[in-house]
Formats: sequence, structure tokens, C-alpha cells
Amino acid sequence: MLTFLVLNGPNLNTLGTREPSIYGNITLEQIYEKLRREATELGATVQCFQSNHEGALIDYIQQHADTSAGIIINPGALTHYSIALRDALASVKIPTIEVHLSNIYAREPFRHHSVIAPISQGQIAGLGWRGYVLALRALVELVQEQAR
Ligand code: DQA
Repeated sequence: MLTFLVLNGPNLNTLGTREPSIYGNITLEQIYEKLRREATELGATVQCFQSNHEGALIDYIQQHADTSAGIIINPGALTHYSIALRDALASVKIPTIEVHLSNIYAREPFRHHSVIAPISQGQIAGLGWRGYVLALRALVELVQEQAR
């Protein structure tokens, strides 16, 4: 069975109460629940991890990429400046899809640039929690296509 890593960066643990007009009322645990359900339907599993620390996310990627088929990541603010996170994602052999709850291109100019996007297979922004589910569907299809 294919396992996909679902990684979330700084402040995403406070979803539900954090700026709900931008990020919605859904909690991270509720998003994980939707992903687990979707994964079951797709015959896959998800392994979820959130950290407020750049290094902890990098350690997690290094420890788990070898046993995973792909990565869904919402790097939070690290999106905009973490070369270290980008390098970690670039150095593993599995595809990454970058997800943002909000449309980063419709917000402050400092959010318009992603250092993660160039090493990602694709990016989904602005669709709220649905972005994670869509990313999972896309990753499963991409990995299955590559295996053919
Ligand atoms: C975010 C967008 C980032 O700019 C912000 O720093 C976040 C959340 C999003 O999901 O829309 O923490 O990644």
C-alpha cells in the first residue's frame, strides 16, 4: 500500500482559531480525518506531521521519504524563505505537491513568492482544506502512472 507524507509547517497547528476569515474554521485534525478517509478510498495511507520548527520538518523528511511514495506539504511561512526546507524536498526521490489553504497570490506581496514551488511537482492554493484532498488524489494518480 502506498504511503504519503502530509507535512504542515509553523502555525498550522492552530487552524480552527487562527484567522478563520482567511483559513476557515476547520482544524488540522479535521483535515487529517478527511485525508485518512480519502486515502482509504484510494487504497493508500497518509502519515501526518506538523511542526513549528524548520529543522524538525527536515528531519522528518529525511527519516521517512525512503518509505513513502510522495509528499503533500503546506510549509506555512517557510514557503517564502526556507531554502533549507526546499533543499530537503529537492534531495528526496519522491514527488512533492505544495498546498496552501489561502490564495497566496491574492494576499500581501511577500506571500507571492514560494521557494518551494520550483522543486514541487505542482502547487494548489486558495481552495481551503480541499487542496490537501486534491493533492492526495493527484499524487496517487501520478505515482501510479509512473509505475506503469
Ligand atoms: C499558508 C500561507 C502562508 O503565507 C502562511 O504563512 C501560512 C499559511 C496557507 O495555507 O495559506 O502559514 O501556507
